[in-house]
Formats: sequence, structure tokens, C-alpha cells
Amino acid sequence: MKVVLGVGGGIAAYKAAELVRALSERDAEVQVVMTEAAQEFVRPLTFAALSGRKVITGMFSAGGGAEETLSSAVEHIQVAQENDILVVAPATADLLARFANGIANDFLTTFYLAFTGPVVLAPAMNTNMWNHAATQANIEVLRSRGHRIVGPGDGFLACGMVGPGRMSEPVEIAEAVLSLSRRKDLEGETILVTAGPTQEPLDPVRFVSNRSSGKMGYALAQAAADRGARVILISGPVHIPEPFGVQIVHVRTATEMRDAVLAGLDESTIIVKSAAVADYHVSTVPQQKMKKTAARMSLELDPTPDILAELGQKKGDRLLIGFAAETENLRQEVRRKLASKNCDMLVGNLVGQEGVGFESDTNEVLLGLATGELISIPKASKREVADRIFDEALKLRLALHAAQ
Ligand code: CTP
Repeated sequence: MKVVLGVGGGIAAYKAAELVRALSERDAEVQVVMTEAAQEFVRPLTFAALSGRKVITGMFSAGGGAEETLSSAVEHIQVAQENDILVVAPATADLLARFANGIANDFLTTFYLAFTGPVVLAPAMNTNMWNHAATQANIEVLRSRGHRIVGPGDGFLACGMVGPGRMSEPVEIAEAVLSLSRRKDLEGETILVTAGPTQEPLDPVRFVSNRSSGKMGYALAQAAADRGARVILISGPVHIPEPFGVQIVHVRTATEMRDAVLAGLDESTIIVKSAAVADYHVSTVPQQKMKKTAARMSLELDPTPDILAELGQKKGDRLLIGFAAETENLRQEVRRKLASKNCDMLVGNLVGQEGVGFESDTNEVLLGLATGELISIPKASKREVADRIFDEALKLRLALHAAQ
């Protein structure tokens, strides 16, 4: 894979050096292009040494006679044709504005217009600049062109502010770049993914919910989309960025999730039920807020519809992947729920431990398969776990078809 890395003029430019390394370690060939402002922060020599090639520093950087000027004047076209992916990190507010408006006044912005492949942008700037309506409008335009925006993250910024604007970590940007070049082995599939918790209202201001962050489901949705699937993501209330290139349906309660899932059932070929659906709710929610009294109070709850069990009955030849969040007896519960809910695969994880399950960025799971096999997937990022789940799901489908 050949990647052009555009480096903009921001403090985070030094982190782009690490990105070159992260990309090279993943077998990408990197051609670095620096804007003039970027060269104020980091010297081209750093990038030349890390990438092992000459850095492009300007439109006419070759300089010299008429011949050389002509060759460098068409260089952006040639570089555009030779490379697979453009990633810009840090993407400054100024670069985003120029990309959004098609202003081509240096090599990077001219190259951007000539390039037809996928584009990944990793913004980095001061919080107020990021929140400004002009930057947000530019981001919307760039997103609508299909570019992938990675970050920015929240945190302590060089300007002393705390808030959004920090460039994402190089490894995360490298993953986004790589995912665009991955194999498209889910092309032709329509994958329905449920994610996050549900919220079950008790009255107009209170609800019962759980600690699910939605990260595992969102990673599954992103992995499926990156691998070429059409993805319908049915999401409970979460606070994480939306995956890229998927259709999202927002729901709140278990009943709403059930309706959305059944509405998408016909068109789907694989269903992944990673949502942590509440098991109980108040079936008739009072219209007014419950008042406090001195007396002890107890809540009467009714079971919610078990969506997975219902899908188990209605799935036909679709591949059904359920989840189980357990605090003990993982193997036993995986086998039990696989059978009782008539799933093809059940992904079990122990929750309530460091680095596994709810809220964590990593996970460690046990897959129970309808063939009777148990596969354990060691601790990895939720994205890597998501990819392994789809790898195993594709193999499982072949095995099930062969057994028929
Ligand atoms: N699930 C569902 N509808 C519900 C409850 C759970 O579809 N009302 C699904 C979840 O999305 C998950 C699977 O069932 O894929 C298992 O969820 P889990 O909470 O682990 O299992 P339960 O059946 O609720 O069993 P228990 O809480 O007793 O462990």
C-alpha cells in the first residue's frame, strides 16, 4: 500500500513522525508532503529519515531550470496516480478550509484536488477553532465527500486549554488508513448490528440502564463497513463518535430496539446483537414525575421482549450472532445461551474486569459456535476483536452450509 502523508503546520506535526513509523511497520510505503507551515515545526530531514524518501516540501521544490520546473509542476498529478491513500495529520483549520473550498495554492492542496482515492483527515487545533462554525461547516463538507475524519480527541492542548482539538494517536490514525485498504470480504452482505445500552424510563425524568458504552458494537459496525458490507447500526444512547459509512438508527428502549431490528430483518444477511438490552422495564410509564415520600418504595418491573430469542425463531438462513455479558461461568453460559436463543455464534465476555467488556477499549472474548466449537480470542483492541468475529463468522457460514 502506498500512502501520501500530508503534514500540516501545527504543534502535533511532531506526532506525524510517529505516524510514519506506525504506517511503515504495517508495510505501507509513505511519501511525506509538508506544507510550508509544517516545516516551521519539524524539519523535512526527520521525515526523510523515517520514510526513507525525499520529502515534498513545495510546489516547485525541485527549483532550477525550466525543465525541472515543468516536471515538478506536474509532480502532483504523478504522485496522485501512484498512491492509494491520502492521510493528512495534523489537518489544521486552515488546511480543512482549503480542502473544503478547493483552494489549491501549494503542493498538498493541489495534490488533494488531483487525488481520487480515499482520504483520511486527522484534525488538530485549539478547542475554539475546532468548535467554530466555519470549521464545523468545513468538516461537514469534507465528511459528505466521503473522507474519513479521525478525532480530534479530548484533552490538554498545547495552548493551555482542555477540550476537543487534540490530534488522535498515531496508531489510531494508522488503523484508519489501513482499514481502507483491507480486503472487502463482506461485500454483498447487509449486516445489522445493535449496540449500546437501552434506557427504560421509570417516569418522565428517570430511567433504568446499564454501563454498556457501545464501543464493541460500534467497532463491529465499522469493521463490517470497512470490509465492504452495507451496515445498519441500531444504537441505544451512547457518547462515542459515529462509525463511518453506516446507516444509523437511534433508539432508546428495548421495545424501540425490537421494532427497529424487526424492520431491518428482511434485508439483512448477518445480525450481530451486541447491545446490552435491559431485561426489565416499567410497562406503563406514569405521565408525571414520581414524588418522594417518607415510605420505602419498590418498583414493579415487567420483562422486556427478548429480541435475540425472537430472532432465533425468525432468522431463516441468516447468520445470527448473539452476545453474553457474564460475571462468572463464562463457558457454561456461552453454551447455554447459544442453544437457548438458537444463535449460530455467541460471543461471551466477562464484564466487570479491567481491560475487558463494558467501557473498555479492549476486549477478550470466548466464541461459542453452532458447530460445538469454542474459540477464545485473547485480549486485543475492540476493532481487532470485531475483525476476528467476522473472520470466524464467514468460516462458520461455510461450515454450516457444507454440513447441510
Ligand atoms: N438480549 C435481547 N433482548 C433482551 C435481552 C438480551 O436481545 N431483552 C440479547 C443481547 O443483545 C445479547 C444476548 O441477548 O445478545 C444476551 O444478553 P444477556 O443480557 O447476556 O442475556 P440474558 O438473556 O438477558 O440473560 P441473563 O441476563 O440472565 O444473563
